[in-house]
Amino acid sequence: MTEPKPIRDAVHFFGRFLAKPGQVGAVLPSSRALAQELVGDLSDLGHGDLVVEYGPGTGAITRRIAEVLPQGVEYLGIELEVSFVRKLSLHFPRLHFHHGSVADVEKILADAGLGAPRRIVSGLPFASLPRAVQDAVVDGTGKILACGGEFRTFQYVHAYRMQTAQRFRAAMETRFAQSERSRPVVRNVPPAFVLRYWNP
Ligand SMILES: C[S@@+](CC[C@H](N)C(=O)[O-])C[C@H]1O[C@@H](n2cnc3c(N)ncnc32)[C@H](O)[C@@H]1O
Repeated sequence: MTEPKPIRDAVHFFGRFLAKPGQVGAVLPSSRALAQELVGDLSDLGHGDLVVEYGPGTGAITRRIAEVLPQGVEYLGIELEVSFVRKLSLHFPRLHFHHGSVADVEKILADAGLGAPRRIVSGLPFASLPRAVQDAVVDGTGKILACGGEFRTFQYVHAYRMQTAQRFRAAMETRFAQSERSRPVVRNVPPAFVLRYWNP
């Protein structure tokens, strides 16, 4: 893992937001506080487990994952923006990244010969994704997550009541019996809730 370059990453991120606002979905990468709340410490994972990250962007969340990833746990990041994939591969040479859409997550994992992930951490901007992509990601996630696995994502407080954000949560609740919402993480621009979904 190379040294963090927050200003350079923020400029790159903002440039891609201007080019593709719906896809990037935020003006700045996530803060360290949000990354910590979202990822936790991964201490429940062990040898042979898999962590999948959706939409790692410039690596704000990935950095936290890399810091706490237990020995022998595999990681795959899936990112649609090719310039982010290049940067991620340079900054995190020990982790694996796939350039493509999370809408194809089942096929991506099968082609890579990977099993069911125990943890999925998502930075996807569900509220601004096309409906078909949102549906494909929710379906795929429900199918691939390991028994006893957990899906985590975040939603910005200001967008929480948006119809598309509510639609995403309703769809997740049909697939997962348990869910939990954190207090707002205020040390992030903008503040965000962390959402967790799992089946007991
Ligand atoms: C809100 S940014 C989050 C970036 C980073 N995880 C963070 O928290 O700073 C959303 C990221 O998801 C990526 N993305 C959007 N749609 C995607 C898709 N269908 N498949 C994979 N990545 C996607 C965007 O390119 C962007 O990097």
